[in-house]
Amino acid sequence: MHVHRFERLWLVAALAMIVLFIGTVTYGAVGAGYGMVDDTGGQVDPTDATASENFREPGVYNGSEPGHYDVYIEAKQFLFVPGTSEPVRVPANSTVTFHVTSTDVIHGFEVVGTNINTMAVPGQVATVTVEFDEPDEYGLVCNEYCGSGHHTMEGSLHVVPAAQFTQTEVN
Ligand code: CUA
Repeated sequence: MHVHRFERLWLVAALAMIVLFIGTVTYGAVGAGYGMVDDTGGQVDPTDATASENFREPGVYNGSEPGHYDVYIEAKQFLFVPGTSEPVRVPANSTVTFHVTSTDVIHGFEVVGTNINTMAVPGQVATVTVEFDEPDEYGLVCNEYCGSGHHTMEGSLHVVPAAQFTQTEVN
């Protein structure tokens, strides 16, 4: 059977595009480090989140070893506690595990300009562990539509020089 040269060219190009598209979707799903909010952070009663062992009074805590901190963040319409009325403060050169939950509807928790980005789901604690090397200031935004004040739901995260961070800021 004779296949015209242009016909063959189109076949190859179409096949290459299909492979490319499947490749990009696969990379987006599994290759880029994305994951669903899973069970590792545990579950809580959304009406009384701090009553659970999986979630503490929102704030910054000493972690499992020196230089590690646990930050508990409650997202609710339309603020982050802590984060909105006062910035979350952590020292530079630290490892920080964020534990994020919502006490009303689904919110987002994104640290602008970084790859820290998770959903805040009522009843579920999302955990994200990251390292902060340099002092810097970041914005926090909610990126899930959560109601009429969604666009106002923001906060800030200050990574301060270690010398400016004292244990009195830790719960
Ligand atoms: Cu909270 Cu959008």
